[in-house]
Amino acid sequence: MSDPFGHRLPFEPYKTKVVERIPNPSREERERALERAHYNLFNLRSDEVRIDLLTDSGTGAMSDRQWAALMLGDESYAGSRNFAHFEETVRALTGFPYIVPAHQGRAAENLLFSSLCRPGSVVPNNMHLDTTQAHVRHQGATPVNLAVPEAYDPESDFPFKGNVDLLALEKLLADTPPEKVPLVMVTITNNTGGGQPVSLENFRQVARIASAHHVPVYLDMCRWAENAFFVREREPGMGGKTIPEIGRAFFDLAAGATMSAKKDGLVNIGGFVATRDESLAERLKEAVILYEGFPTYGGLARRDLEAISVGLTEATELDYLEHRVAQVRYLADLLDTVGVPFFHPVGGHGVYLDVRRFLPHLGDEDLPGQALVVELYREGGVRTVEVGALMFGEDFRGASRSLELVRLAIPRRVYSASHLAYVADVVGRVYARREGVRGLRMVYRPERLPHFTARFAVK
Ligand code: F0G
Repeated sequence: MSDPFGHRLPFEPYKTKVVERIPNPSREERERALERAHYNLFNLRSDEVRIDLLTDSGTGAMSDRQWAALMLGDESYAGSRNFAHFEETVRALTGFPYIVPAHQGRAAENLLFSSLCRPGSVVPNNMHLDTTQAHVRHQGATPVNLAVPEAYDPESDFPFKGNVDLLALEKLLADTPPEKVPLVMVTITNNTGGGQPVSLENFRQVARIASAHHVPVYLDMCRWAENAFFVREREPGMGGKTIPEIGRAFFDLAAGATMSAKKDGLVNIGGFVATRDESLAERLKEAVILYEGFPTYGGLARRDLEAISVGLTEATELDYLEHRVAQVRYLADLLDTVGVPFFHPVGGHGVYLDVRRFLPHLGDEDLPGQALVVELYREGGVRTVEVGALMFGEDFRGASRSLELVRLAIPRRVYSASHLAYVADVVGRVYARREGVRGLRMVYRPERLPHFTARFAVK
C-alpha cells in the first residue's frame, strides 16, 4: 500500500487502546526551552517536545499482553516465579544456560566487563556505543572499533555495514598477547554506525578467528531481532528462516551476550547478561548482588521480568518487524524526495542524517551535528541526538575516517505514519534554509560522556 506520492506506507499491525496526548509547544516556548537547556536537548522537559526521536531505548509502547503480564508480578526477593519464566524464555531463545538479569544494558555490561577485564585489557567490537566504551574504559581497558571500511562511508549501499573487518581482527589478535584480550564483542545491529546489520557469515568468521586465539565472543544483542530481519532479507539462503532461527544461529556461535531489553525486549526497563561459562556465571552473580540486587531480580521489579518474557517473543513476530523497518524506510523515502542527505542504507531503528552533507558550510569546530539537533527542535519541536564528534569526542575524530550523524530514532509501536510525515516536513524545512544554520561552541564539557550534560552557546 502506497501514499499518493508512491511511498510505501507502513501498515501498523496494532490498534490503539490507550492514548497519550502530544504536547505542542509554540515557537517562543521552544526558543525559551532551548536557552534554558543550554542547547542540550537532554535538558528539555518531555512536555516541551512534540515528537521525541531522542532514542528508541525504553521508549516503546507495551502490548496489552505485556500490561496483563505485569499483573502476574510475584514480588518475592528471592526465587520469584517471574524469574523462572524469564530464565526459561531467554534460555529457549538463546541457548545460553546462565542468565543474570540487570536493570538495563549498561548494567549488564558493567557486570560482564568488571568480571572479565583488567587494566590494560583490549576489547575489540565492530563499533562501541558511547556508554559501552565508557564501561570498557572504566575497567582501565581500551575499546577498539573494527568495523569494515564501508561502515564509515554514508553513501555506500553495502548491505552489512555492521560487519567486522576480519583482517583487522586477525591482526589485533595476532599482535596482542592473548591474556590481554578477555573478549571480542559484536554489536547487532551496529547502533553507532547507523543501525546496520552484521551478516551471519561475518559473525561465523569472527567466531572462527576468535576461537583460534582462544578468545570468547560476546554479542551485544540489544537489537538482535532487527539484525535477524535484515539477515533474512539480504543474506543468501536465509529467506526461508524464522527470526528465532536466525537469532539462534548467531547465539550458537557466541560464548554469551549482553542485552538491553529496552530495545528488542519491547519494555521500558530491563536487561541481562547470558553466558555458557559456569565459573563466569558465578562471578556475575556475585557482581549482580553488589551492583543490582539478588540474581533472581537484578535491580528490576519482578513484574518487569514478566513483561520482558512477553516482549522478547513479540519482537520476533514478522508483522511487527516488517512494520518497524517499513517505518524507518518511509521516513527515509520522504526525506529522499526533498533531497535530504542521510546514511545509506537505512538501518533498523532510525534514520541517521549525514551532517557533513547537510551542513557543508560548518566545520568540525562548529559542532555541526549538535547545531542540526538544535535546529530540528527549533523548527518543529522534534528531539533527536547527535552521533558524532560530540558523543565520541577524540575517539571518533582521531580515526582517519569519522562519521558525523544526527539520529532520528523511532520508538517502537509509538508513532504513526502521519507523525513521520510531520518529522520529514520539519527536516525538509530546515534543509531548505540550511545555509543560515549557525554553529555552536561548548561552554561546559564534563569529563565523561560529554553529550549528556555538556552546555553550549550559539556562535
Ligand atoms: N548497547 C547498545 C548497542 C545500545 O544501543 C545501548 C543503548 C546499550 C548497549 C546500553 O543499553 O541504555 O539499556 O543501558 N542505547 C540507547 C540509545 C541508550 O539511545 O541508543 P542501556
